This record gives sequence, structure tokens and C-alpha cells, in this order.
Amino acid sequence: MDKLLVHGNGSLRGTINISGSKNASLPILAATLLSEEASIVRRVPDVSDTNYMLQILRALGAEVERSSGTVRVEPATVSPEAPYDLVRKMRASICVMGPLLTRVGRAKISLPGGCVIGDRPVDLHVKAMQGLGASVEMEGGDIILTAPKGLVGAEIDMQGKHGPTVLGTDNLMMAATLARGTTIIESAASEPEVVDLANFLIGMGARIEGAGTRRIVIEGVNELTAVEHTVIPDRIEAGTFMVAGAMAGEGITLRRVCRDHLGAAHDKLIEAGHLVSFSDDGSEVSVSPGASPRGCDIITAPYPGFPTDMQAQFTAMFVTTPGISVVEDKIFPQRFMHCSEMKRMGADITVDGGRAVIRGVDILSAAPVMASDLRASAALVLAALRARGTTEINRLYHIDRGYEHIDEKLLQLGGTVERVPA
Ligand code: EPZ
Repeated sequence: MDKLLVHGNGSLRGTINISGSKNASLPILAATLLSEEASIVRRVPDVSDTNYMLQILRALGAEVERSSGTVRVEPATVSPEAPYDLVRKMRASICVMGPLLTRVGRAKISLPGGCVIGDRPVDLHVKAMQGLGASVEMEGGDIILTAPKGLVGAEIDMQGKHGPTVLGTDNLMMAATLARGTTIIESAASEPEVVDLANFLIGMGARIEGAGTRRIVIEGVNELTAVEHTVIPDRIEAGTFMVAGAMAGEGITLRRVCRDHLGAAHDKLIEAGHLVSFSDDGSEVSVSPGASPRGCDIITAPYPGFPTDMQAQFTAMFVTTPGISVVEDKIFPQRFMHCSEMKRMGADITVDGGRAVIRGVDILSAAPVMASDLRASAALVLAALRARGTTEINRLYHIDRGYEHIDEKLLQLGGTVERVPA
């Protein structure tokens, strides 16, 4: 297990390329199971989550080849059972449920464990499959779904107590592509990653309208064919580095971004007094610190609201921003593991009932800290950029799950970071 040494108080400058989206790649790789032909997916980031998904596809019987960011998947025949030892490592493996069930009429998936950001229920996924006519049993920690006569389209409302479900919407949309008749998804998630999946499915011959809105209509077809697809840029990685530029930059530029997906991050950085400008075509963004940054409030919400996946990174910025900031996570109310670690570095944060109240301090001091969930870990790297001394971030594997070569990108920007064996 590696750890990352981050020497603080440096400044970042220069340009990096943002990778393809992890959260678009995962459901799209699962969707390749919907056809027996070989599909090609480009710009799949080399992170452990996507590599777990490739291992799951291989274990299900697909032929999988990866060459740099390009992945070829040929699922000529597939088994309905996703292997426990792989599924337990990544919640997102739940998104093979829909493709397996609609392709082979059966799926056996282990219940995903919880994780540090809070409970990760799958009740909406199960409700969706039952809505399409599947029967569902829970046995030995597995969800066993069967639909021997195939699935039948239906109108299904996917609203959960914390709003729409991204992967739940994905699972239902994928299952509905080969169901008989029409499926209407109400209260659908509208994240860009859902739209990217819909575009991939349409490229396979699926008939889908309304992706990106709260109401998606899918007309079932008899079969789907192969497709070649390039996944969208990773808006969470881009947002993470935009915060780095606002905290510790002398003007950094991020290439291969998509302005349309970065509205919440852009608006919040401007509100906090920083400088953000996009190129005319929206594929590049430059960020630098403002002269008088100020604290802000954040309440996370489903897209296009402020993403829960970016609140930890903005918290890292607020801990050394003059004034008081309040961050509330309405989607994952327990997602504040990063705060206790930042307090070890001298941050003034009070966490209570799903919100963090942050009082800006002048500077943090380096300390050994522990990475936890993916985004909390990235937030610790950002905080370390503004700490006196060298911060040691342990359990780097959390960051490697979703950030492609984060240390190399920071080095490219002039950051003084070092990956060392733990
Ligand atoms: C996706 O997870 C993302 N992961 C998460 O990013 C992201 O935080 C989350 O969406 C919210 O935006 C991927 O896309 C691979 P949800 P997902 O189902 O789909 C509740 C990262 O850092 N819920 O949209 O699993 C749930 O508890 C990861 O890259 C139910 O109640 O999340 C949560 O409160 C972390 N029942 C809310 O809905 C269900 O059946 C949103 O969860 C499913 C979810």
C-alpha cells in the first residue's frame, strides 16, 4: 500500500489533461453485456474501479482487452453470477444487474457492503427490476433475480428519500432496452454520466428519449449490436483540480473538460472570489486564486445541483478561506470523514447532523492523515497543498480508485508530491 507525501505551501502552474469519467465508464462497461458483439470504449481511465469492472466482465465470461484508455469487450456468452470477491470491492458493480437480467433472464449479485460515506441501499434497484416483472430473492448476502419469460416494460418512479438514484436509473434504463414494450422512468437521475450511458445504448440500437431529464422513455428492442464510444470527461476530477487551482495555483489550465458539466463548481468558485475562465469551445478551463477569497455555503443536490462528490474538495478550500462556510450534504449526510483528518492539520470544523461549519484559518500544519473514501482522500491532498510542512497521506489506494495518476498530474503542475511505499 502506497502513501503520498505532499509538501505544502508550494504553488501550482501549468496545464494538464483531465481523464475520461470513471462514473460514466463503469455503467457503460456494464452495458457492453447487452450485446454478444464486441464493443469498444475509449478514454476509460486507468483506475482501480474500472479495472475491477473489467475483472467482473471477464469473470462473467466476456473477452476483455485493454490498451491504454481503450477497452474492447466481447461478451459472446455470459454467466448470470457476478463473483462475490470482486463485487464486494466496489458498490458500482451493482450496475451489471440490469444488463445480466435482461440478457440472460437471471442475475445473482452480492449485496454491496456499506462504505464510509454512509449506507448504500439498493432498494430502488430491486424495485425497478420487480417493476419490469423480475422475481427477487435475498439469499446468503446475494440478490437473486429471475425473469424466465423476459422483462416487460412498465412505468416506474425511482424517487428515493435522498432524491434520484444514479446507478438505479442506469440499471433500469439498461434492463428496459431489451424488455418487451415501453418503460417510463419517473424521477430519473439526470447526471451527465446517465446521458453518456444513454448515448452509448442508443449507439447499440436502443430506443431512448429524455435522458438528462427526470423522465426517460425506453422502447424495448429485440437485440442490441456493438458500438464504439468515447466516454465524457471526468467532471469530478476536473472540479477537484479547479479547487487546487483556486487554493494553491498561480494560474492552472485543465484541458479536455466539458464546461456544460461544470456549472456548479464554476459558480461556487466565483462566489468564493476566485477567477475561472473557459475557452470558447468550453474544452479548457483556467483557474487562479482571487485577491480576496470569502467563505460560502454549499448544499449538495442531484444534478445540476452542487455534486455530493465535490463537497469534500470545497471543504478543503474553505478551511483556509477567511470567514465562515457551511457545507451540508443532503445526499450522503454522513460524508464528512475528511473533516476529522483536516482537524488534525489545524482546521476549525464542527460537524453536526449532516453539515460542517468551517471557520477559515490562516494556514494548516502538516500531519500524518488517513485517506478514507475516494473524494475525502482527494480533499486531504488539496488541504496538504496549503499546509506548512510535509503531509503524509496513508491508504492511497482510496485515491487510486477514482483519480488517474493524481501524483503525476500534480507533479506536472509543479506540485511537490511523492508516492512512496507505506
Ligand atoms: C453514484 O453513486 C456515484 N457513483 C457516486 O460517486 C455519487 O456520489 C452518487 O451517484 C450520487 O451522485 C457512480 O456513479 C459509480 P445514488 P450511486 O444511488 O448511484 C440513495 C464517487 O465518489 N439510494 O445516486 O450508488 C443513496 O443512499 C462515487 O465517484 C437509496 O436510498 O448513488 C443516496 O442517499 C461515490 N436506494 C442517494 O440515493 C437505492 O436503491 C443517491 O445515491 C439507491 C440509492
